[in-house]
Amino acid sequence: MKLLVTGTAGFIGFHLVKSLVNSGHEIIGMDSINDYYDVDLKFGRLQETGIESDEIEYNKLIVSNKFPNYRFIKLDLEDHDNINSLFESENFDVVCHLAAQAGVRYSITNPHSYIQSNIVGFLNILEGCRYNDIKHLIYASSSSVYGLNKKMPFSTQDNVDHPVSLYAASKKSNELMAHTYSHLYGIPTTGLRFFTVYGPWGRPDMAYFKFTKAIIEDKPIDVYNYGNMERDFTYVDDVVDGIMKIVDSEPPEGNNEWSCDGPNPSSSKAPYRIYNIGNNSPVNLLKFIEILESKLDKRANKIYLPMQLGDLKTTYADVEDLIRDFGYKPTTSLEQGIGEFVAWYQRVYNV
Ligand SMILES: NC(=O)c1ccc[n+]([C@@H]2O[C@H](COP(=O)([O-])OP(=O)(O)OC[C@H]3O[C@@H](n4cnc5c(N)ncnc54)[C@H](O)[C@@H]3O)[C@@H](O)[C@H]2O)c1
Repeated sequence: MKLLVTGTAGFIGFHLVKSLVNSGHEIIGMDSINDYYDVDLKFGRLQETGIESDEIEYNKLIVSNKFPNYRFIKLDLEDHDNINSLFESENFDVVCHLAAQAGVRYSITNPHSYIQSNIVGFLNILEGCRYNDIKHLIYASSSSVYGLNKKMPFSTQDNVDHPVSLYAASKKSNELMAHTYSHLYGIPTTGLRFFTVYGPWGRPDMAYFKFTKAIIEDKPIDVYNYGNMERDFTYVDDVVDGIMKIVDSEPPEGNNEWSCDGPNPSSSKAPYRIYNIGNNSPVNLLKFIEILESKLDKRANKIYLPMQLGDLKTTYADVEDLIRDFGYKPTTSLEQGIGEFVAWYQRVYNV
């Protein structure tokens, strides 16, 4: 198959490419390489996949010098004309859309970038799929859509109409937009709600990365809600394994049993599905810090602070649907995963 993967200078997209290049598929990666966080980390990821920074030019396809079945193009999702041309000239079978303005806290101060990348950008991807006979659109949603929900674990069968950040609202909007295109044009779409993905080459704006850096540098760490939080930390290889299983499966079909009387939000008469992709095992933030301290062999200096705007207190994924439909099974314990992250951090930053 020929795949377009967006967000391949980003954390999850990079790991997905590393897995896809060994699967025999032909892949084009796309990313604007924006400066939301350290651009050198993005260039480092690109280099790992054989894309040299000095060759990168806007809207120019580059062949990887490591994997002949991988090419990369620097492009903005908002650039409708060039996205269109890319879809028209490359005839993709499957699109994995991971590029987005990520981060809950940044959406409080920079709301416009979420509308540009996540709403306008998502529309451009949908339009590309609409006119170019795409067989399956797989796209990133987020656990943040669960917003004010309290029922645990979070299930895709639950209503998610009460987001608490614009980031979450943009991801919920993506699910609604995908449903519309699935219904109107028969495009099979699968939305994946990721739960706190972590691992080597991770994101510097996320707590596990910030904590590691601060502890190593003898700086204090900010512990929100006085540590009274739980996260369903999911190791990036487990997430990629789940995405790979979906890429290699048949795309969704319309669900004939779906009814508008008490409708199941995770499926539809249209070829539309939503899944959680988490670890199904939430861990308290203070326990998480303990594990990190033991891997770094150093104590953290914790500053206890109140809850931040837009944050959820707990995330906990019900992944039964993903197990049933794709045999998904996360296998990495937090101890193992944090160990891998710390080893990577120490190697790359030479500390
Ligand atoms: N990492 C997590 O824990 C997590 C949790 C829930 C959802 N997600 C979602 O998963 C996806 C991947 O996340 P990630 O952690 O790899 O994030 P990331 O920020 O590392 O990667 C996203 C990439 O998208 C690119 N991008 C952003 N706006 C763009 C635009 N307008 N045009 C082109 N490229 C653009 C960025 O340059 C970046 O490299 C995102 O959609 C994110 O919202 C991630």
